[in-house]
Amino acid sequence: MLLSFSAWMVQLTNRIAGLLERFNFVMQAKASADRINAVLSVEAAIADPPRAAALPPSGGGLRFSNVSVKFGERRILDGVSLDVRAGETVVLTGRSGSGKSILLSLPPRLYDPGEGGVFLDGVDVRDLCLETLRSAVCLASDDAVLFNDTIAANISLGRPDASQAEIEQAAQLAQAHRFITEMPDGYDAGIGERGLTLSGGQRQRIVLARALLVGPRLLLLDDASSSLDPATDAAVWQGLTGREQKRTMLVATQRRSVAARGDRVVLLDAGRIAAEGTDEELWRT
Ligand SMILES: Nc1ncnc2c1ncn2[C@@H]1O[C@H](COP(=O)(O)OP(=O)(O)OP(=O)(O)O)[C@@H](O)[C@H]1O
Ligand SMILES: [Mg+2]
Repeated sequence: MLLSFSAWMVQLTNRIAGLLERFNFVMQAKASADRINAVLSVEAAIADPPRAAALPPSGGGLRFSNVSVKFGERRILDGVSLDVRAGETVVLTGRSGSGKSILLSLPPRLYDPGEGGVFLDGVDVRDLCLETLRSAVCLASDDAVLFNDTIAANISLGRPDASQAEIEQAAQLAQAHRFITEMPDGYDAGIGERGLTLSGGQRQRIVLARALLVGPRLLLLDDASSSLDPATDAAVWQGLTGREQKRTMLVATQRRSVAARGDRVVLLDAGRIAAEGTDEELWRT
């Protein structure tokens, strides 16, 4: 009797454990579904306009006009107005959490501002079809995602039609060609889940090559070279700026060495522009 009772207890415990596990699974599935819905509703909000505007054939001028962004009740950006002229390099600096990454995510429309507007060569980015916009504006950020695929596929993500020569040229500018060709399978090497087989600095260079291959008129860099050693970092900068035709760049960084490279530096503080000037002017104040 005692034996069968304890056997029954074991069974019951197993059943309860099984039920709990299933309940847990259902709850996890629900949480995932909620997250997917949240993403889908954002995606739905960021859609092509009914009648897309055309971009002028060249340029790269960017204007933030009085933009504010709120997450819940928190104001993350508060009335930011900033002009970046075509061909200019502007560095955005400010302490962690000041809103640099959020500001950089507005031109490619990862978010839309609650108030104000973002204009590329005079056209409101919300009036452009997303394909046009994302071939004109590229954001390279430290947390860009690499896929479990070959290096070549990861670089050509934004331009799947690119030739091998174009892929290699972009990798060369991003100082990635050498380490890629030193790998046993070169450009055909698989890089595993989230690029785990690469170092932080190698991942950053793949992400830069990906952005350069798109050949955007406006390049946004968000801490995009923070893991590179100073010599590689300087070479990457040469690759980005050394061309006859200067591209427009807005670069977020906390590093003074990078700030010094900008034509102009803008200091963000708690979502507002606190100061603007040359690197020297800013450090004098
Ligand atoms: N998806 C989000 N939901 C809610 N709040 C967010 C979200 N993303 C960022 N924030 C908040 O917005 C503020 C600005 O963040 P942001 O990432 O732009 O800072 P940052 O200046 O880029 O900082 P860092 O130098 O550390 O990269 C922070 O207070 C952050 O907590
Ligand atoms: Mg950031």
